[in-house]
Amino acid sequence: MTDQAPASDSGSPDIPGKPTSASRTTLSHIMTHNDTNLLGTVHGGVIMKLVDDAAGAVAGRHSGGPAVTASMDEMAFLEPVRVGDLVHVKAQVNWTGRTSMEVGVRVLAERWNESAPATQVGSAYLVFAAVDADGKPRRVPQVLPETERDKRRYQEAQIRRTHRLARRRAIMDLREKRAAEGFED
Ligand SMILES: CC(C)(COP(=O)(O)OP(=O)(O)OC[C@H]1O[C@@H](n2cnc3c(N)ncnc32)[C@H](O)[C@@H]1OP(=O)(O)O)[C@@H](O)C(=O)NCCC(=O)NCCS
Repeated sequence: MTDQAPASDSGSPDIPGKPTSASRTTLSHIMTHNDTNLLGTVHGGVIMKLVDDAAGAVAGRHSGGPAVTASMDEMAFLEPVRVGDLVHVKAQVNWTGRTSMEVGVRVLAERWNESAPATQVGSAYLVFAAVDADGKPRRVPQVLPETERDKRRYQEAQIRRTHRLARRRAIMDLREKRAAEGFED
């Protein structure tokens, strides 16, 4: 496995690559009573919305135009978030394909009643597709990982990409097989 995407799977050679730092973004938000679930902690969907917002901003910045969420996976909630906590959602492009980007997101919380450093409370990986005015996928600049951490994230994103494609292919094959055998949903 290499640090860069293979030529057939990477950004257009006509578009200059962009370093990871060019689009890295942090979104910060104080949690309020409007954000809570029945247990009084912050609703997971509120955090997912912030994750999608931050990742979308990164994907738009990197691709230089509109980008839509194609998938969200491996959303992990590690610790509850509470009212008053200052939540920081940090996002960066981990990997680029031809028209899609994997964005990695870390969610940190500064506890309103503690003077401790922010703790990680969640993480997620999302795939965004850059789209044109008709909503059709368009080419994206190749991301250029800068640090060793960026390079590790790039390589890990390639593994997730391989698994996503394999899983989708396996499910489509199974559906085609069942349809050919006359089974209907
Ligand atoms: C995402 C979308 C643009 C893909 O369009 P498409 O016609 O299927 O185009 P493609 O199959 O060429 O996919 C485009 C890229 O997205 C990737 N992709 C598509 N679906 C994906 C999925 N479910 N998971 C991961 N990647 C996906 C493809 O691998 C491809 O990447 P690549 O060019 O880097 O290889 C289209 O499905 C769409 O508009 N979906 C709705 C998005 C949306 O509205 N999101 C907000 C939800 S409210």
